[in-house]
Amino acid sequence: MNKTKGGFEKVVRRLVKKHSTPLMLISEAKLQQQYEAFVRHLACVTPYYAIKANPQPEIIKAFIKLGAGFDVASGNELISVLKLGADPAKIIFANTIKSPADLALAKKSRVKLMTFDNEPELYKIAKYAPGSRVLVRLKVNNVGSTVELSLKFGADPDQAIFLLNKAKSLGLVAEGLAFHVGSQCINIDNYLQALDISSMIFHEAVQVGLRLKTLDLGGGFPIHHFDSDDHIILKEIARQIRPKLRRLFPKDTNFMAEPGRFFVGPAGTLVTSVIGRTFRNNRNYYYLDDGVYADFSGIVFDHCRYEYKSLRRGQKFLSTLAGPTCDSFDTIAHNVDLPELEVGNIVYVKNIGAYSCASAVPGFNGFAPAKILMI
Ligand SMILES: Cc1ncc(COP(=O)(O)O)c(C=O)c1O
Repeated sequence: MNKTKGGFEKVVRRLVKKHSTPLMLISEAKLQQQYEAFVRHLACVTPYYAIKANPQPEIIKAFIKLGAGFDVASGNELISVLKLGADPAKIIFANTIKSPADLALAKKSRVKLMTFDNEPELYKIAKYAPGSRVLVRLKVNNVGSTVELSLKFGADPDQAIFLLNKAKSLGLVAEGLAFHVGSQCINIDNYLQALDISSMIFHEAVQVGLRLKTLDLGGGFPIHHFDSDDHIILKEIARQIRPKLRRLFPKDTNFMAEPGRFFVGPAGTLVTSVIGRTFRNNRNYYYLDDGVYADFSGIVFDHCRYEYKSLRRGQKFLSTLAGPTCDSFDTIAHNVDLPELEVGNIVYVKNIGAYSCASAVPGFNGFAPAKILMI
């Protein structure tokens, strides 16, 4: 997308004229930039794009072209990446709970690498996907991360060796460890502590005759949602974790990660239109053609806050934005600084490519989610 403000606005106006709204614009150039930034800052870590962040086929194709691997959470995600040409050897089935049918599908599709965090899952894997390479997912601190991912998943670190030994005894390949520090993790200590714990388990494993090969750093790599955000981003995280990866683990360790938000968040811009306006509760209310049931679903599921902008100039007033459905819950944001808007005016949000259209409900109240356009 054109980098100057005027250029960006021109592109938006042209696309809206042609396609109407709502539109989710995905910049291929930005996808590439994010991928390249990741491999530049963490050259020793192989990224597996977590497609749950945005499973749009064009995005998956772009990452296949760039050479990324993929993290899938279900049989259906597995099928979609394979259909688009992903290499089964570069896929991780990174859901610690997998159905028997999905495990059988993984086996049939030659997808061998997967995570688990409990003993019953191992029996299931051994039965339906014998010979799989397994990583035990550890419960690690998610302090300060926007989305907590250790409430439902992760084995206590003191169970790791027992579980890996059990995996081996069941004929599985006890390959290593995985963790997730929570999504949009701006607390670098989560990564540093997780690496310390992982390193201890790597060393303990040697003592019991297990040779761990792989460490999966999960996702969590944060992005800026607001122009004014100044919290840490990948560059600083990478600067601090690189020395730990070098010092704490055997030289030939295979490091991998599962970035979702970092790869696709900054590439997405949601463009909506005002379809109604009123003055209530002492302020302007603008009703948009997209809401929390669709592309703003990240407000609910991703606990995300966005920066709302308009193409209009003029004095700004604190306003409320709401979605188009009949539910009061479908209120997007209060206290948004916006100029006076009319029906038909554009409101757009940048950095909204992750956990937005991915979790949209198709057609609630008959409103379709945004049309996705690669630009
Ligand atoms: C297992 C797993 N891996 C990777 C991710 C992607 O995380 P992020 O978008 O924070 O990079 C998630 C997100 O929920 C996850 O559950």
